[in-house]
Amino acid sequence: MSRKVTKAIFPVAGLGTRFLPATKSIPKEIMTLVDRPLIQYAIDEARAAGIKEFIFVTSRGKSALEDYFDSAPELEAALEQKGKTDLLETLRQTSMESGAIAYIRQQRPLGLGHAVWCARRLIADEPFAVILPDDVIAAETPCLQQMIEAYEGAGSKGCMVAAMEVPQERTSSYGILDVEEDMGALVSVRKMVEKPKAEEAPSNLAVIGRYILTPSVLDTLDAADRGAGGEIQLTDAIAREIETTQNVYGFRFRGQRFDCGSKAGFLQA
Ligand code: UTP
Repeated sequence: MSRKVTKAIFPVAGLGTRFLPATKSIPKEIMTLVDRPLIQYAIDEARAAGIKEFIFVTSRGKSALEDYFDSAPELEAALEQKGKTDLLETLRQTSMESGAIAYIRQQRPLGLGHAVWCARRLIADEPFAVILPDDVIAAETPCLQQMIEAYEGAGSKGCMVAAMEVPQERTSSYGILDVEEDMGALVSVRKMVEKPKAEEAPSNLAVIGRYILTPSVLDTLDAADRGAGGEIQLTDAIAREIETTQNVYGFRFRGQRFDCGSKAGFLQA
């Protein structure tokens, strides 16, 4: 098995209901933070981490997302004619090389785990990354790059999830880690609990939207039942890895995460 992480899945098939009415016609991932859409931050982070293949799990009404990564010949010609080379370069950074990008449809929003499973045929026998573009992370070294370095440093085995400390009263909004051994930036995980109440949470170390997963997670998702909220949860499938291999790690990244899936987080970002 090749152990290098070169593929990333971007699940973007959610309904984005917290941003209605905007998301009635605009995919959440196309919403703009300063001068670029959320999805561009995720792509830039993946590129910096050495990702070569970008797999989008999309759904109906997300065609603006596909167009965003296409080339824009008329616009490019106009900028070229006007000698606006800086803008031309900015524009070119958004178009993706043919074959580097793939789109898979999730027909029904059955949850994050299901969205990742939809991309299973594009993942061979190698670890892969999952990036949720809702989570925008400001960091000197991009978060996924930090994770891949740590993953390779730890022998490129098992799964790794990005983790951060959250206030105890907020545990019910996250997947929470039950820590087996705390090694500083890296923690080994005994259990993962989806959205526990504050008084039942095993820690305040929360999983956020960056993952490195082994292909066996996809086999687990294959056989998965609906978990919390009637959805197929990615957390449940990763938790299963702990039972079978014990190789699940949390990684405390260096940087600041903004939850751009919520209005407050988006404003803060
Ligand atoms: P969220 O939990 O933020 O859901 O999904 P959402 O539908 O995007 O937004 P709200 O809660 O209705 O406002 C986290 C990530 O998982 C993807 C979303 O697109 C987002 O990137 N997702 C979620 C899917 O791709 N498919 C799903 O069925 C659910």
